[in-house]
Amino acid sequence: VTVYVPRDSAARSVGADAVAETIRTAAAELGRPVDVVRNGSRGMLWLEPLVEVVTPEGRVGYGPVAPSDVAGLLDAGFLDGADHPLRLGVVDELPWISQQLRVTFARIGITDPLSPEDYERHGGLVGLRRALETPPADVVAEVTESGLRGRGGAGFPAGIKWKTVLDCADELKFVCCNADEGDSGTFADRMVMEGDPFMLIEGMTIAAHAVGAREGYFYIRSEYPDAVATMRAAIEIARENNWLGDRILGSDLSFDLHVRVGAGAYICGEETSMLESLESKRGLVRAKPPIPAIQGLFGKPTVVNNVLTLATVPVILANGAKAYQELGVERSRGTQVFQLGGNIARGGIVETPFGVTLRQLIEEYGGGTRSGRPVRTVQVGGPLGAYLPTSMLDLPMDYEAFAAAGAMLGHGGVVVFDDTVDMAAQARFAMEFCAAESCGKCTPCRIGSVRGVEVIDRIVADEEREENLALLEDLCDLMTDGSLCAMGGLTPMPVRSAIEHFPDDFLAREGTA
Ligand code: NAI
Ligand code: SF4
Repeated sequence: VTVYVPRDSAARSVGADAVAETIRTAAAELGRPVDVVRNGSRGMLWLEPLVEVVTPEGRVGYGPVAPSDVAGLLDAGFLDGADHPLRLGVVDELPWISQQLRVTFARIGITDPLSPEDYERHGGLVGLRRALETPPADVVAEVTESGLRGRGGAGFPAGIKWKTVLDCADELKFVCCNADEGDSGTFADRMVMEGDPFMLIEGMTIAAHAVGAREGYFYIRSEYPDAVATMRAAIEIARENNWLGDRILGSDLSFDLHVRVGAGAYICGEETSMLESLESKRGLVRAKPPIPAIQGLFGKPTVVNNVLTLATVPVILANGAKAYQELGVERSRGTQVFQLGGNIARGGIVETPFGVTLRQLIEEYGGGTRSGRPVRTVQVGGPLGAYLPTSMLDLPMDYEAFAAAGAMLGHGGVVVFDDTVDMAAQARFAMEFCAAESCGKCTPCRIGSVRGVEVIDRIVADEEREENLALLEDLCDLMTDGSLCAMGGLTPMPVRSAIEHFPDDFLAREGTA
């Protein structure tokens, strides 16, 4: 019998290792040895550790399973898919999964992340093989036609970025994967690295062929030790299989990849400070222009893309630009991997075409708040994203629709708060976060954020409230217009949205002075 127990760190954090070990030993003692495969997570995080058993009916899920449940599960005959209070049914048929459209996450949770055989059996390398038979400029054109935009947050068209690098005449070029997933409430990059690392390697290799690079780097945050270990192991296996190295898969392409680990700075997710850090320097933001596509790592033309962007490239090459381009709405094409978190009953990964509404994500998939209290606000796009009131829940998940509403989709993180949230405290947190994480290079951000905390404290304390509110608005304008990068430039977004949509939390509260 084959049993799947996720190795994803979200599952491990709630005891998946102990569950896997208990199943292995207890089943062997019963004379029913099992083959325990450590898969990625299906992304239904409230059900972790989610154990799946292969049956003639399909993969039947049980969860959340604790080591103390294992004896009872074995008694009930779960190795044959039998009934038990933790039995969820055939996992692929659970509405939460079956209503999604998993394109980037198609294999995650299904395969053994470090099995090259499993990878190829489930469609791996089809995109790379096709790319290697296609001239670089045509690969770039395919990515452009697919409509794929940078999934790190800014949504810049990936194909146009690649074309800029391809058009540079330099001998030496690089491909860098930004895996410094720093936004609070986001975890999709981590799940890709832990759950389908070969897909990311394949995407990087296609990018290398497309732009003419021979070397690539992963920049992974230090808080993701499992992702670091999995990527390193996957790179070794890829080298052994000639998916990396000289003359990849018999083609003319030679390309190798290296992992670098960050040191805990949020700002190193900003592409230029990431490049500084990769060059062993302090993570200070560089002024743009020049853009990294022209002068990036060690001053050479460099593709810098987020994990999800690169992870989506193989399937675009495998199925063609048109299939991807047909999904989505307006200028937001394809699917987005939304990450539901915060105060939510069913948190996890929802991959759907763009255009799904916030309400669908929070109510249909998320099941409302975990506390059972009414939703008051949702922050979309990380700590620098806007707080949206419930009157805006019908907003479609679409880059331009969000921008028009004074918000941003960012990296797809959706964090839910119930009616106990204090929006002045959330606004203060944005400024505090910026003060802690600012690289210090420019004054509006370095000093502005500290002043922002002080001004919000005065508003809360009811010291000249109206004047200080006007001052805060002024400060927000200055930070937006005068900051060198998105850190200082976007910090006003959560602050402004909190004031605009929840003015009573600032104006009608009792002073603490
Ligand atoms: P940006 O708009 O300055 O640039 C977007 C990308 O397009 C960059 O890679 C830039 O180099 C490239 N680009 C611009 N013009 C180009 C051209 N003509 N040719 C080729 N490439 C070109 O945005 P930035 O500062 O890179 O990112 C800001 C975003 O980052 C925010 O919107 C936020 O959502 C997101 N963010 C994401 C985080 C995460 O953990 N994923 C954390 C913090 C912020
Ligand atoms: Fe550094 Fe902040 Fe200026 Fe960005 S906005 S360059 S993080 S000081």
